[in-house]
Amino acid sequence: MRLALPEPAMAKRTRPKPTNPLPLARSTLQRQLERLRDEARTCQRCDLWRHSTQTVFGEGSVDTDLMLVGEQPGDAEDIQGHPFVGPAGRILLEALTQAGLADTHYYLTNAVKHFKWEPRGKRRIHVRPTTSELLACSHWLEGEIAAVRPRVLVALGATAVRALLGPGPRVTKDRGQWLPSAFGPPVLVTVHPSSVLRIADREERHAALTALVADLRQVVRRLESLDRRATS
Ligand code: URA
Repeated sequence: MRLALPEPAMAKRTRPKPTNPLPLARSTLQRQLERLRDEARTCQRCDLWRHSTQTVFGEGSVDTDLMLVGEQPGDAEDIQGHPFVGPAGRILLEALTQAGLADTHYYLTNAVKHFKWEPRGKRRIHVRPTTSELLACSHWLEGEIAAVRPRVLVALGATAVRALLGPGPRVTKDRGQWLPSAFGPPVLVTVHPSSVLRIADREERHAALTALVADLRQVVRRLESLDRRATS
């Protein structure tokens, strides 16, 4: 997946970062992120580590304005150790491509870093994380945001909305809106790509993907207006 590439291969956008409060060197932030990633490997802040294969930390470089946050790794991510490498990731990549963001380098992570599941026959079925699991894992998400310092956050689905914005906002009511966050950057609320996957009817699924793409186009416009402001 593109995200696993070394960062120079991903970096197509070049823009100043005038809003960074501290002129910390990129290498310092990258090291900060790597340290966090190493620490997260042995995370036992909640019990989810007991039944998962590994911690699935975020990926991408610190040299980006855009961070996308999902819920938690799924079965494929748990096995492979990378975020969004399974079916939901394919939908996300398709939506990002259609929105014109495929060549934008971004940081992709999850609100929860371990796969929560229950057995159903031979399959491992996703179970939504609880608020206390979300809170336990917020340590890592906060650390990622502090190191990457994105100017735009995207919350993919209800769990990410809760992690980034607290209990008030809802995907159903706030979808497509930019909401202010305690983390600093505004958060675009949208659906989780797996909600597109779950739609059985082909036309409805296509419409759902189109709606996700429309939400993500707002990100393109926001990044462009930030760039314009930075250079004027
Ligand atoms: N769903 C998520 O929210 N994140 C992943 O990494 C995979 C599926």
